Amino acid sequence: MRHTPAVGDNPRQRFSLHEGLAEAIATFSLPDILGFGSVFAPVMFRADYRDGSWQPGQLQPYGPISIDPGAKVLHYAQEVFEGQKAYRVGDQPTALFRPAMNWRRLNASAARLCLPPLPESLFLDGVFGVTALNEGFIPDASGQSLYLRPFLFGTESDLGMAASREVSFMVIASPSQAYHAGSMSLLVERAESRVAGGGIGAAKVGGNYACALQSAARCAELGYDLTLWLDPHQRHDIEELSGMNFFAVVDGRLLTPLLSDSILAGITRDSVIQLARARGLVVDEVAIAIDELLGWIETGRCSECFACGTAAIVAPVRELGEADGTRYALPQAEGEVTAFLRTALLDIQEGRAEDPFGWMVPLPREYRQLADSDEVF
Ligand SMILES: Cc1ncc(COP(=O)(O)O)c(C=O)c1O
Repeated sequence: MRHTPAVGDNPRQRFSLHEGLAEAIATFSLPDILGFGSVFAPVMFRADYRDGSWQPGQLQPYGPISIDPGAKVLHYAQEVFEGQKAYRVGDQPTALFRPAMNWRRLNASAARLCLPPLPESLFLDGVFGVTALNEGFIPDASGQSLYLRPFLFGTESDLGMAASREVSFMVIASPSQAYHAGSMSLLVERAESRVAGGGIGAAKVGGNYACALQSAARCAELGYDLTLWLDPHQRHDIEELSGMNFFAVVDGRLLTPLLSDSILAGITRDSVIQLARARGLVVDEVAIAIDELLGWIETGRCSECFACGTAAIVAPVRELGEADGTRYALPQAEGEVTAFLRTALLDIQEGRAEDPFGWMVPLPREYRQLADSDEVF
């Protein structure tokens, strides 16, 4: 795969700036109520792949894109994405949480869907460039952030069943509040599967989320918040939620399902495991049979359950339940381990605590300089 080589440290030599940026930034203001993922920051990034190589990208005003109706993504769903956050809480300089992990996972998802790999420099130009030019719109109260959504999709206009030879990489951003999941009630989904064994469950692929919508609607009808998915082979073991990984505290040990080809390897999951181990907790990545867990809740051996992901950070579970209405309540709406892990993670992300793992990556100076340059303002 060819890629326009990085030229020195100056991002300006790697991608261009659209002439409409100054106006887009000047005319944007943050609304009072942000929500999660519903307000879009005024600057986005785009780079296109054609003739076997990535072309130089561009920072552009946020807005509609034009796409050929025959584009493969619209028919065969050749699309993968990421979700990550830039934080600027209090006096903390703007910093991203573990961005290289998102780049690696995006490429793993891309490989599964036969999309071309994205060079790390191009990915970082996208996420750092978008963060830098939107820096003035990163909300700075605790729990708030700039949610970044990098994505790749096949744009070749051709209905043949083959990998797209033309692809776009884009990064959009949404100034957001914390996604408030509250203390969740989960439906044990015994009727449907989110993904197939050997399928695309371990990839961050748009279709996996479309597939989860029907169960989400049933959750709402039955009075649950979210779906808890089981393994697609026998619906015996717990896998994850539609957008978060799952943990339980059993006999004082932290259990989480062992990763498989049908579970997304969450970056928050990995971080929670490291934080818990550093705190001296025993963490087991193991198969967790749903019926066993329900029994442990009934007998009190399971004291806490929670789910975690970029959007909600760490969200407590207050009960699990069945479609027939049988409910299994946890002893507290939020347990001690859950509260500790959420606070510990958020304190690192928001710059209140030491970062012994080196997870926070400050926005590099060369991108900030770009935002200050005469070319933009
Ligand atoms: C299916 C699924 N599982 C787990 C996660 C949690 O992953 P992360 O912690 O990287 O956000 C997400 C969210 O990205 C997801 O969509």
